[in-house]
Amino acid sequence: MNDELIDDFGRRVRYVRISVTDRCDFRCVYCMSEEMTFLPRAQVLTLEELALVARAFTEMGVEKIRLTGGEPLVRRDIDHLVDEIGALPGLRDFAMTTNGASLRKFAPRLREAGLERLNISLDSLDPERFRRLTRTGELAKVIDGIRAAREAGFERIKLNAVILKGRNDDEVVDLVDFARREGVDISFIEEMPLGDVSDHSRAETFCSSDEVQALIEQRHALLPTTETTLGPSRYFRMPDSETRVGFISPHSHNFCSTCNRVRVTVEGRLLLCLGNEHSVDLRAVLRRHPGDIDALKDAIVKAMPLKPERHHFTTDGDVQVVRFMNMTGG
Ligand code: GTP
Ligand code: 5AD
Ligand code: SF4
Repeated sequence: MNDELIDDFGRRVRYVRISVTDRCDFRCVYCMSEEMTFLPRAQVLTLEELALVARAFTEMGVEKIRLTGGEPLVRRDIDHLVDEIGALPGLRDFAMTTNGASLRKFAPRLREAGLERLNISLDSLDPERFRRLTRTGELAKVIDGIRAAREAGFERIKLNAVILKGRNDDEVVDLVDFARREGVDISFIEEMPLGDVSDHSRAETFCSSDEVQALIEQRHALLPTTETTLGPSRYFRMPDSETRVGFISPHSHNFCSTCNRVRVTVEGRLLLCLGNEHSVDLRAVLRRHPGDIDALKDAIVKAMPLKPERHHFTTDGDVQVVRFMNMTGG
């Protein structure tokens, strides 16, 4: 069997995003609704199942794994999974996306276990506003978490800011200046229409990357680069700083033609694209053939033709995918 994962459009899958929990201690307004119910434990992959999934993918040419949530650090014993994945041969980039609130506790252990990179969500530098955007988050904890990650030896930490017009677009330059002071990178993200979050009309809050870029350029020159983290971000450099500024622009600069990623949802659904529902139930395979990596690989290879050419997100405010972001971690 040829184990390389190539879809019908010739795109090779090298990056897998694995959601380890749908739970989160925050309730960000663009990600979740205020009243969320979470999945019963039996529906969520066990740590052993998750480790087998990661191994199967790396044996099929996947070089990059990112753990996501919900918030991955609320999953009990997540450090054991990080140990297992960190030891997999063939992995060139092992990363996690987190809300940062518990990094003071976890960062040293994660670094020791072989995690290499952290992306930390940060949408505002104003404590009140941060609380409103996350509904439950405490800004000081996240800032302390970012510093804890640096102290633990994480390099190339990246902040993620989802920019909503009228909510935090006036903070774009302040966020860049914060990233410069802290010696970290920052990516600005266009909001995507996943799940009916009911907090705001996404048509009204949409803020394009070009608008964000123009705001930054009033203060800092941005020089385009060809640098890549194998993710969707387009990176720019500033002449007087090591900080990279990235833009993730699913609406305004579609990046699907170079997509190299698939996702595994918290229920073990292999999701071929964030913006569609094409998927294969890996949990069924794992539970029918416990520990059988070949059965798993076979299901993964057979899923490749299901990868659609692109997402069809629009900015008109309609929910295009009913699934909330916390099932896939973005
Ligand atoms: P790097 O490894 O640093 O490049 O990270 P990343 O951008 O791949 O991952 P992260 O978890 O930080 O995601 C940042 C944003 O990019 C989130 O809003 C994700 O939903 C979004 N994103 C990542 N991959 C895709 C994708 O394939 N399609 C779309 N539409 N959005 C994506
Ligand atoms: N649109 C864009 N980005 C989102 N994220 C969560 N929900 C959305 C959305 N609807 C981001 C978070 C986090 C990353 C994993 O996805 O801010 O940084
Ligand atoms: Fe939690 Fe992240 Fe969603 Fe915010 S964006 S509610 S931190 S999963």
